[in-house]
Amino acid sequence: MRTPLIAGNWKMNGSASLVEDFGRAFPRTVLPASLDVVILPPFPYLDMAQRAFADTSLELGAQTLNPLHSGARTGEVSGQMLREFGVRYALVGHSERRQLYRENDEAVHDRLLAALSVDITPILCVGESLEERDAGHTMEVVLGQVGYVMARLEPEQRPRVVIAYEPVWAIGTGRTATPGQAQEVMAGIRKYQASFDRGLAAGMRLLYGGSMNANNAAELLAQPDIDGGLVGGASLKVDDFLAICQSAG
Ligand code: G3P
Repeated sequence: MRTPLIAGNWKMNGSASLVEDFGRAFPRTVLPASLDVVILPPFPYLDMAQRAFADTSLELGAQTLNPLHSGARTGEVSGQMLREFGVRYALVGHSERRQLYRENDEAVHDRLLAALSVDITPILCVGESLEERDAGHTMEVVLGQVGYVMARLEPEQRPRVVIAYEPVWAIGTGRTATPGQAQEVMAGIRKYQASFDRGLAAGMRLLYGGSMNANNAAELLAQPDIDGGLVGGASLKVDDFLAICQSAG
């Protein structure tokens, strides 16, 4: 069975006091044991979060990483550095990175390999724009993004990837994909993975992201191919995020 995963992507939000609030609100007893929960704060808070989350069941993630281990890359952070702060997961290919920082599929693939090389679990984000959905190209776009990366991985690397389906039109807009829309795409992703290996498809964790909140999480998470959530705005509020985690347990 797949262990559900809820990941809170703080993006360029949060504060030292929010880190402390999460550390206090998530003692080990508060979450079901059969659930993985990850917080992805901005880089400057990782050190503090590692200490604040030490006695919680929260794990740490990073919002991006550079493909190199070290070198002349001003402003960048490597996977090796993230490991020193206990980071276990990293987003690659978030639509904000694809759009605002022009990360194409090749750049996404390089970052995913960098994460795997230091034993960080990559969360590969994929999703279509509203124009692409309206034009009927959703599956083509999503499977294009998934396929570019998965086809270039070694068979033993593929099961180490988590995929997050985040329709771009649902991110930060308050407009969530319906459970049916999300399920349809995620079933398509799982079916595509079966073209590599049926076991891979059955075991791979697929997350939904895009305006997930305490009110809509349960219905989304009840879909057979949705194994968790990648939560933006609602992960900045302790109570909302806790409620989402509890609906996944
Ligand atoms: O990575 C999470 C994300 O992009 C969704 O953000 O604010 O719509 O939950 P939000």
